[in-house]
Amino acid sequence: MKKYVEKNDVVVLIDSNFRKYIVDTNSKTDKIKGVGVLDPSSLIGKEYGKQLEIGNKQFWILLPSVQDKLQSVHRRAQIILPRDAAHILINCSIESGQHVLEGGIGSGSLTIALASAVAPNGKIISYDVREDFIEHALKNIRKTGLEQYVSTKLKDITKEIEEKELDAIILDIPNPWEAIENVWNALKVGGYFCSYSPLISQVEKTVKELRKHSFIEIKTFENIQREMVVSIHGTRPSFDMLGHTGYLTFARKILQS
Ligand SMILES: C[S@@+](CC[C@H](N)C(=O)[O-])C[C@H]1O[C@@H](n2cnc3c(N)ncnc32)[C@H](O)[C@@H]1O
Repeated sequence: MKKYVEKNDVVVLIDSNFRKYIVDTNSKTDKIKGVGVLDPSSLIGKEYGKQLEIGNKQFWILLPSVQDKLQSVHRRAQIILPRDAAHILINCSIESGQHVLEGGIGSGSLTIALASAVAPNGKIISYDVREDFIEHALKNIRKTGLEQYVSTKLKDITKEIEEKELDAIILDIPNPWEAIENVWNALKVGGYFCSYSPLISQVEKTVKELRKHSFIEIKTFENIQREMVVSIHGTRPSFDMLGHTGYLTFARKILQS
């Protein structure tokens, strides 16, 4: 375990409101809200775990966890939040060394969770129909130091999937049911599928299409999570509960009997 920040380290700065900023000590400058421009090399030599002053603000400095990386993503499209990403990782049995396809990349939030899980020998292939989203996502991914585990393709996943024998395919697109035929052809036997959709109507169309192909363990979930606020006066659920995010539909490829 490193004690002090070294050259080439990627660190996370956490302010007193637990806002997080991933900083690559190699980059020339970085902007931090309420502080302005920071010279990242000035962090080299600081002790991990200690609080330090930048501008007039206090920050803890740590090596970034996957959670820190996900929480510092700059969003453009709606992202898959850590609570749903965690569910996807376990239900699709994503492990180090696997090849996983994702469509679309959006802001790259799920990509970061997937890349962390398949590193250091696996690969995430991300399709998106919009070049601007790919560029935006890659900016977020580069900040986390995971770019070597991600390759992107400007492609419509409902039209074609070039890869074969994939361990898992995860879709976060408006019309996942239109990609099911391609998904079945591209997965290895026993490979996992997951689709993230905000609407029940999308889930119904996707499950209908899954049932036309050889898939087992077709299941849909909604994750509901409540934070508990623990204070000296007592403990209660947080008033800021995050409501609906999306439905997660899972399935596993088998061969026709
Ligand atoms: C909601 S965003 C994905 C967010 C992403 N999961 C994240 O966590 O940051 C949906 C993305 O799917 C892309 N998309 C929509 N239809 C697509 C398709 N048929 N093939 C590939 N990408 C598609 C959009 O351009 C958009 O970037």
